[in-house]
Amino acid sequence: MLEVELGGAWRCEHALSAETIDLLNLFLPLVARMETLAIAQLGQSLDGRIATESGASHYINGLQARTHLHRLRALVDAVVVGVGTVNDDDPLLTVRHVKGRNPVRVVLDPRARMGGDRRLAFDGAALTIQLVGPGCATKAPPGVRRISLPTTAEGGFDVLAVLDWLHAQGLRRVLIEGGGVTISRFMQAGALDRMHFLIAPLLIGSGRAGLQLPPVLSVHEARRPRCRVFACGEDTIFDLDLRLAAHSAHDARADADAHVPRRISTQAPGSVDVSTTMP
Ligand SMILES: NC(=O)c1ccc[n+]([C@@H]2O[C@H](COP(=O)([O-])OP(=O)(O)OC[C@H]3O[C@@H](n4cnc5c(N)ncnc54)[C@H](OP(=O)(O)O)[C@@H]3O)[C@@H](O)[C@H]2O)c1
Repeated sequence: MLEVELGGAWRCEHALSAETIDLLNLFLPLVARMETLAIAQLGQSLDGRIATESGASHYINGLQARTHLHRLRALVDAVVVGVGTVNDDDPLLTVRHVKGRNPVRVVLDPRARMGGDRRLAFDGAALTIQLVGPGCATKAPPGVRRISLPTTAEGGFDVLAVLDWLHAQGLRRVLIEGGGVTISRFMQAGALDRMHFLIAPLLIGSGRAGLQLPPVLSVHEARRPRCRVFACGEDTIFDLDLRLAAHSAHDARADADAHVPRRISTQAPGSVDVSTTMP
């Protein structure tokens, strides 16, 4: 029997395969919680690029990492992207690689510049909500629900207000899927519970940056979130828990020593009682 605690720590009487243990460790912290969830993902190269200069990102990651992304989509109520991603990639944001329900698609588009020919505007695979700023026309493409939200003095949405609005619609579990500008704003506002970096072993050399945050003066000031590392085909997932208290560089190094590389099957077949090291 599998016993799961609130927060995702788990225990099982039976021997499980390394792959099953990885899946439980990765996903139970996301589903075994009563509250809301805001998780972001970025698929990027070793040199921190999420797309080429021209905006091409298909495909930085291998099939297993893309399947991981589809699993994340299947676990949330809504997937949020910036209008840059919609216009550059024309994504569907569905769960084609796994079984599950397609999430509601939410586009942050304060100036209503999403192309009307984008597939998520008419494919009918799930509801698409376009969040626009005040003053934008209310008429939207046929498959799109256009909602006007207030913007700040800088012209952007307050991302915490966006999450509040989504929660009020019953969309409590949210994946912020990209791109870099959008995720950086959620990260900077402290709005994320968790972040998955899907690192591919390639060097793009130039191109669109992933996270961009305000500068810090010294490395000492850099954030060192709790991090677990999982092999994912040829790629590597860095799973950051952004809600745990920031910890010291010493702790971060100890975490890294304990968890890399993390095929976390530490029990011999037939043994019992495998539990996670971190909820
Ligand atoms: N590798 C990956 O995992 C991945 C994932 C997704 C996308 N991508 C790539 O990333 C590139 C696009 O990313 P990007 O960083 O350039 O753009 P983006 O984040 O997709 O979109 C940025 C735009 O969205 C709007 N926006 C985002 N957050 C907002 C907020 N809080 N308030 C108001 N408006 C907000 C703004 O539109 P306005 O400019 O109109 O104000 C902003 O300029 C594409 O090349 C795509 O292929 C890669």
